[in-house]
This record gives sequence, structure tokens and C-alpha cells, in this order.
Amino acid sequence: MKKIIVANWKMNPASQKEAKKLFDAVKKFHLKNAEVVICPPFVYLSQLKGLTLGAQNVFYQEKGAFTGEVSPIMLKDLKVWYVIIGHSERRKYFGETDELVSKKIKASVQAGLKVIFCVGENEGDEKQMVVEKQVTEGLKNISSKEMKQVTIAYEPVWAIGTGKNCSVDETLKSVLLIKKNILNLYTRQLSDTIKVLYGGSVTAENAGSYIKEAGVNGLLVGGASLRAEEFINIIKSTAY
Ligand code: PGA
Repeated sequence: MKKIIVANWKMNPASQKEAKKLFDAVKKFHLKNAEVVICPPFVYLSQLKGLTLGAQNVFYQEKGAFTGEVSPIMLKDLKVWYVIIGHSERRKYFGETDELVSKKIKASVQAGLKVIFCVGENEGDEKQMVVEKQVTEGLKNISSKEMKQVTIAYEPVWAIGTGKNCSVDETLKSVLLIKKNILNLYTRQLSDTIKVLYGGSVTAENAGSYIKEAGVNGLLVGGASLRAEEFINIIKSTAY
């Protein structure tokens, strides 16, 4: 099965010109066994063509008086296929709750988008409890059928942007924990087939070990996705 390598550019780069340059550099490289998804800031989405696109956020209403927001159908109309929901930076800086995350997931799957649903514990948290709560509440109203459009990204908050990536062993445990939560909520078949990604200080150096040993279906890459050569090397690490 194809590995999914997602680039979360966050609020970067600072200009259209730089965004295009980075995108084109990645586009030149093509690997058949990886699905590469680029998630740039909203303002660049309509200008980048030739690779699968994702958004970094979305609102749950279709349209209306919600100043500053973007709806799932607007993304769909732009030919954006994926959307990241529940990222820890959204939870931390913009106060996103599990309830809001759940509404965003619902609206996005209903609009036909694929969701990358982020979960992960903070430093000092009881991982099992936090991940179970985030998974259960985030997926509260999502049917088994809708779950086919959901990929879960395990991103321990302490590993994001810190250079302290999670060990392969701990990642594997987290993947199994997420699958167990899915089994409790849905069916064995869904638990076996749900795609789980790892994110948090992924680099070209450590990417391969997750793909080979941590039981993940792909990676969510932040900082390293802004460096074309390194990101291409991360994509290459899926070919083994
Ligand atoms: P990082 O970010 O790779 O810079 O740690 C990952 C993410 O936030 O998705």
C-alpha cells in the first residue's frame, strides 16, 4: 500500500514566489509508492498544481457570516483533497476543543474531503488517557463509512518542532493504542485498515525507521518539509 507523506508547511513560506519554488522542487521528484500531500497556507492553495493538496484547517459550516473562515466545500471546489484537523497548534493557540474538532471532521467527510486527524499527548500527560479521549470525542459522530476518509496522525506534542522525535518503540505502541481505540468504537476490519501516520521532528535521517519499524502508513512532516532536498529524501525513505 502507498505510504502517505504529508508536508505541513504551517505559516510558511513568506511569499508566493518561495511557495511556488518549494512546490516545484518537490513536484519534479516522483515516487510511485508514495502519496505526497502538500498542505500550504490557504492563500497559496489555488496557485499550486500538480501534487495532491491539503489544507491546514477548515470550518464546519458550509457558508455564511463566519469572518475569516474557510468551508469544506470551498476546499473541495479548489480541488483540495485533504485537510488537517485537530493539530496541536490549533488546539493550543486557537483553543480548539475535541468538540470543535469533531464538528470539523464531520463537515469535512460529508463534503468528501479526506481528513488527517491529529492526536497526541503533551509532556507529562498520561498518553493512553489523552489519546483515547481525543480519538473517542473527535470521532463521536463519524460513521464506519465516513471513517474510510479518515487518517489518524499520532503527533506527541513534545516532539513537534523540538528535534526530540518519538522513539520507534513508543510510536509503535501508540499506533497499536489508536487501533485499539478504533476497535472499541468500530469494527475489527476498520481497526486493521485505518491508516496511522507519525509526526513530530521527522527528518530524512529518522523517517525510514518509522516506515520500516513503527507500523505507520506514512508521516506528517513540518519543519523538514520546508527544505526541498530533505523532504524529497523523506519521500525516498518510503521505498525499501
Ligand atoms: P515538525 O512538525 O515536523 O516540525 O515537528 C510536525 C507537525 O507539526 O505536523
